[in-house]
Formats: sequence, structure tokens, C-alpha cells
Amino acid sequence: MRTNHIVKFIALIFSVFLLSSCEYEFIEVYTPPPPNPTDTIYFQAEITPIFVSSTCTSCHNGGLAFDLTAANAYNSITTNNLVVPFEPENSLIYTVPKSGTHFASFSSNADANLIYGWILQGALNN
Ligand code: HEC
Repeated sequence: MRTNHIVKFIALIFSVFLLSSCEYEFIEVYTPPPPNPTDTIYFQAEITPIFVSSTCTSCHNGGLAFDLTAANAYNSITTNNLVVPFEPENSLIYTVPKSGTHFASFSSNADANLIYGWILQGALNN
């Protein structure tokens, strides 16, 4: 009887150790810096290459509901309501890849910031 209790006690201590050894690392939420309004971000020259380098175009190339290849990206983004001009946090083209749960993410924070800034500047077809 007594040894049974000791075994249970040791098992309890051991499981407390196991549980407390779990470490949680929280991923830091990245807040993009406000873009410089005098520095215009251009859709064709700066944004469309991001869709290629971030591998978006391997899926979004016309076969799916929308097309992010350079020639069709702007038309596709606007007609599918993926962008709300001046509101990057409400624009799926920014929030979906930024979420980290989609098939691909932006390959760098710098790229994410460019898209953020482009939307903040009105999401122009420039
Ligand atoms: C492996 C294939 C794949 C890749 C890579 C991919 N996507 Fe997608 N994406 C999908 C599919 C499938 C859907 C859902 C069907 C649809 O809406 O076309 C989707 C949907 C979306 C949506 C719409 C979500 C909605 O709620 O309407 C956005 C925005 C999007 N993708 C952006 C991107 C961007 C930007 C990239 C690159 C960083 C990317 N995707 C990379 C497959 C992919």
C-alpha cells in the first residue's frame, strides 16, 4: 500500500515536471512602419515582382479565381475586391499572405511593407 502511494507521488511529481518543461514561444506581431508619403510605390515595377518572388503566381495564374501575373494582376485584384484603397488592414491581398496560414507568405517584411504602403497610397495602377 505504502509503496503504491510513493509510486503515485513520484508519478505526479514527474508529470508536473513534464508539463512545466513545455515552452511557448510567441511570435512577435510585426507592425509595419508608416510609409513615406513622398516616396511613391509603383504597382507594375515594385508590386507585381513580389507576386512572382513570393510564388503566388505558381497558383494564381489564371487557373484559379484570380490571376496575379503582371499583365492581369491589377484588374484581377480590383475586380475580385481583394484591395480596399487606403485600408491595407482590410485588403485581402495584404492580410491573407500576412496571416501565415495561406499557401504562401510574402518572402520578406520589406515586401509586405511595400504592399502595405502601396495600398495606403491608394492602390493605384501606376
Ligand atoms: C499553392 C497554391 C497557392 C499559392 C502559392 C498561393 N495561393 Fe492564394 N489561394 C489559393 C487558393 C486555392 C485560394 C482559394 C481559391 C480562390 O479564391 O482563388 C486562394 C485564395 C487567395 C486569396 C483570396 C482569399 C479570399 O478570402 O477571397 C488571396 C487574397 C490570395 N489567395 C493571395 C495569395 C498571395 C498574395 C499569394 C502569394 C504570397 C498566394 N495567394 C499564394 C492558392 C494559392
